[in-house]
Amino acid sequence: MTPMKTTTTRLAEMKRRGEPIVALTAYDAPTAALLDGAGVDVLLVGDSVGNVKLGYGNTLPVTVEEMLHHVRAVRRGNSRALLVADMPYLSYELDPADALRNAGRLIKDGGAEAVKLEGGLAVAPVIKELLRVNIPVMGHLGLTPQAVNRLGGYKVQGRDPRDAERLVTDARILEGAGIFALVLECVPADLAAAVTSKVSVPTIGIGAGPGCDGQILVVDDLLGLGASPAPSFVRRYADLRPVMEDAVRRYAADVRSRAFPGKAHSYGAARPKARAAR
Ligand code: KIV
Repeated sequence: MTPMKTTTTRLAEMKRRGEPIVALTAYDAPTAALLDGAGVDVLLVGDSVGNVKLGYGNTLPVTVEEMLHHVRAVRRGNSRALLVADMPYLSYELDPADALRNAGRLIKDGGAEAVKLEGGLAVAPVIKELLRVNIPVMGHLGLTPQAVNRLGGYKVQGRDPRDAERLVTDARILEGAGIFALVLECVPADLAAAVTSKVSVPTIGIGAGPGCDGQILVVDDLLGLGASPAPSFVRRYADLRPVMEDAVRRYAADVRSRAFPGKAHSYGAARPKARAAR
């Protein structure tokens, strides 16, 4: 049986049934195809593409054009998972018309099926505006990386009771504004569980404990591809970086010793001229 296409309404059903939602980031077509084929429910083209793939120090420099490039690639690799695209920093906060135009591009030109944006009360009007033109929106509270300079670093949020209360209020405001799901990043597990029980939309945690309706990780962290250490909450399911380094070192050594390419696989005298010219 072909697995069902994931939709925003299916995620709501999964929450009702207590079925955990599996989400991962993706940035390119072959990885998206692999994750989709492995049964991941939600693929997020996160603006983490800035740190993970583009060599930026944080997500702030990422542009709509850069997001579009990666969203299109993931769209080409994906078939079943719900495809969500992050709205990059300053693409939605300044003016609702701007937000509409930028989200519209991610949907219409990029092939995303929903967008994600960070923040609480302040972004509620933007969410309503996007829903007016039928763009589903995923919220994101807790550690919101686009606010890294205000937050003073990548720190757990909501430890202080007043911050925790504000986070619950923000979650309710976002729910009221019409989000279909909510990412909770780096908040204490009991707070994430409390939010999950108080809102009707599915929560998807990252560093937020087991009480969320689903989990998301940055795919490079899960696979052990990153050059810098992954956050402590990450479970590394593979350690691919040393495997790749070893492969490249062996290739370099073989080229230098002329062990690669071997004679048997080279184009040349053994092949007809027409083929060799290609
Ligand atoms: O940009 C991103 O990858 C994200 C996830 C970490 C939730 O927002």
